[in-house]
Amino acid sequence: MKISIIGTGYVGLVTGVCLADLGNDVICVDIIKEKVDAINEGKAIIYEENLEEILNKNLKEKRIRATTSINEAVNHADVIFISVGTPSRENKAIDLGYIENTSCEIGKALKEQNDYKVIAVKSTVIPGTTENVVIPLLEEFSGKKAGKDFGVCMVPEFLREGRAIYDFMNPDRIIIGEYDKKSGNAINELFKNFSCPILRTNLRTAEMIKYASNAFLATKISFINEIANICELKGIDVNEVAKGIGLDKRIGPHFLHAGIGFGGSCFPKDVSALIASADENGYEPKLLKEVMELNERQKLWPVRKIKKIFSDLSNKKIAILGLAFKGNSDDMRESPSIPIINSLLKEKCKIYAYDPKATENAKKIFGNKINYCESVDECLNDADACIIVTDWNEFREIYDKFNLMKNKIVIDGRRIIADPEKCKKLNIKYYGVGYKNE
Ligand code: UDX
Ligand code: UDX
Repeated sequence: MKISIIGTGYVGLVTGVCLADLGNDVICVDIIKEKVDAINEGKAIIYEENLEEILNKNLKEKRIRATTSINEAVNHADVIFISVGTPSRENKAIDLGYIENTSCEIGKALKEQNDYKVIAVKSTVIPGTTENVVIPLLEEFSGKKAGKDFGVCMVPEFLREGRAIYDFMNPDRIIIGEYDKKSGNAINELFKNFSCPILRTNLRTAEMIKYASNAFLATKISFINEIANICELKGIDVNEVAKGIGLDKRIGPHFLHAGIGFGGSCFPKDVSALIASADENGYEPKLLKEVMELNERQKLWPVRKIKKIFSDLSNKKIAILGLAFKGNSDDMRESPSIPIINSLLKEKCKIYAYDPKATENAKKIFGNKINYCESVDECLNDADACIIVTDWNEFREIYDKFNLMKNKIVIDGRRIIADPEKCKKLNIKYYGVGYKNE
């Protein structure tokens, strides 16, 4: 099929590249010309496993290209996906500015078209947005009628950064929110070779499924973090508890990894937007509010630990291993590293940080307030303590490297160290979230 994707962030670019790889003819659109040029030159602009290879393969086979022109994209496609960002406003409610602009632009371009095309919203939007915002703008600017002259769907994404290609190609389910049957049939056709269940529903239910999925996963994380905090007080290892409860099929083993909270572009933004939207409708979602508050407190777990160890932190050299919000990603959005480092800077610590991929993005946040290292060794050298912030695989077995430190104090915010017992044998003072030997 002929596909266009408007907005080439994490979601848009991965969706475009994967659909091209499945044999579709894809145009990616972005307002930022540098991104468009980079894509056409085969540069992936974001770090995502295998993305650049697959992009280059499909550029070569002429199944994908990028442009800044929405007109060109609308003209080209049978299905047009909207995957522009939906950031939070100051009050945490969703900012629909990009969605509105894009809907107007697509509407204007549709005016000139005679063929039936389907517009599919992929950006995460508050239930009701496709019906109350996107469709009215498309109709106003095109002078055409949804359901008659063009189709509309809402097809949420469930891609994890770092695993986005895998997740796209191996989905647990595909949700198609459809304005009418004909619109849904077009999207169904696009995904017909996937073996997972396809759930067809209405537009606002699809929008809600995305929010409810992310809210549930965020709740699972805050839940296990709360259990971890209790485990610490009682001398119990939360990982064993997670294993034990995860064997219950009703609970399941996933998303029970205790740590210093969730960050990234989705969970914090989406749960906050759902809270703000429920509040607006006169319902106070107390559970979800606590999920967010516990998460904010959890991010500072390493700072509370370190303050118990040192009565005075000024001039202490603290090694920060990992800056990204999670391993296999260069994304700094809502990363726990931000409040942790800011708190330590307030205490006048000297920060030395290492991340395999996120350093360039971190520089935009911390500037020259911290020192950026090129290796674990350089970071740990002569440090008074080390905080592991991101679950990069390369931090899993670095026992020998802790010898480089002035004090062998390791605060593991992600429970990434493979064998905490081994640390004890090597005289490393180990503190892990929800770990028993405090
Ligand atoms: C996406 C979805 O858009 C968001 O709603 C969902 O919750 C998570 O996934 P992401 O891909 O991470 O977000 O967004 P971002 O990295 O901000 O990329 C959006 C892209 O759209 C940017 O490249 C931006 O330049 C582009 N854009 C934005 C446009 O092309 N047109 C616009 O009007 C606005
Ligand atoms: C998430 C959703 O998983 C995806 O379906 C959605 O569409 C986009 O948002 P992403 O934010 O890329 O994906 O990463 P994810 O792997 O879900 O992790 C989110 C955060 O939760 C990370 O900071 C991670 O470290 C943390 N996390 C995750 C935990 O602390 N414990 C866990 O068990 C799992």
